[in-house]
Amino acid sequence: MAETVATATEPISTLRHRHLLGLATYSAEEIQLILQTAREFRQVLERPIKRVPTLRGVTVVNLFFEPSTRTRISFELAEKRLSADTVNFSASGSSVSKGETLKDTAQNIEAMKVDMAVIRHKSPGAPHFLTRCVDAVVVNAGDGAHEHPTQALLDLFTISEHFDTFEGLNISILGDITHSRVARSNIFGLRALGAHVTLCGPKTLMPVGVEHLGVRVTHRLDEALEGCDVAMALRIQLERQGTSLFPSLREYHNQFGITLDHLARHPDLLIMHPGPVNRGVELASEVVDHERAVILHQVTNGVAVRMAVLYLLAELPGAGTE
Ligand code: CP
Repeated sequence: MAETVATATEPISTLRHRHLLGLATYSAEEIQLILQTAREFRQVLERPIKRVPTLRGVTVVNLFFEPSTRTRISFELAEKRLSADTVNFSASGSSVSKGETLKDTAQNIEAMKVDMAVIRHKSPGAPHFLTRCVDAVVVNAGDGAHEHPTQALLDLFTISEHFDTFEGLNISILGDITHSRVARSNIFGLRALGAHVTLCGPKTLMPVGVEHLGVRVTHRLDEALEGCDVAMALRIQLERQGTSLFPSLREYHNQFGITLDHLARHPDLLIMHPGPVNRGVELASEVVDHERAVILHQVTNGVAVRMAVLYLLAELPGAGTE
């Protein structure tokens, strides 16, 4: 296992995009630039003093209209590690509960001189809408079932710690594909970097025609795990399902859950999960705690990846990691 990723892409030094709304439009070169920058920030996070002055004077607001543990804390830590001024907004306890719109909320916050806005929202397209309401740079922290680009970037970063290249790598994404913004962003990122992606889950949780994204689809877990390098299990999102789309969680686990038996049959298989995990559903509880499950490494890497995204989008002249 190697630490760096060899790619056929030409290195670039700046992003073409002003915002990070999704990975659908990000090129392989841009994704590699973010991963390479994150590697430098990952080293900063190993130092006794995990802080650099890179974003001193920059104000970032974290607009969270939906619950979050990992993404919210990770962005906040990334901003603090970069010495940015950070402001946290939660829909609950704000004037949203009095009927204030996203546009008015964002414009009022921007009137207090905010440079960057990180947004999580239940509505797909909310970050795109925000770019039309404010001048601040916008980063999507998850919009409905659309995209979760920084989750996919931290997933890619974690994979890159274990494999020399994405070219030809076999990644299986398992579970609730229909409701998963993580799956969509990972499909775009992994395909851009040359990985083979297999989607596996119940027919009721698989979008019709998803093959047009360049992925293979199977409804059999054994088939998805054959020759697979990384299995990325997704959370069953009971809160986004209008009706129950499979008979029971127990049945789901029996058909699509990864167990110690699967790990024994696939001795090199790496297990990932974006969290939060439903223990005993997507993954057997022993698998969550297994050394080949890199779930907490994903969380650790998330801070470095978000530092990289904020740094590259802030476009500060002369900024670095010293
Ligand atoms: N993976 C992820 O987005 O987790 P949170 O919902 O806790 O942010």
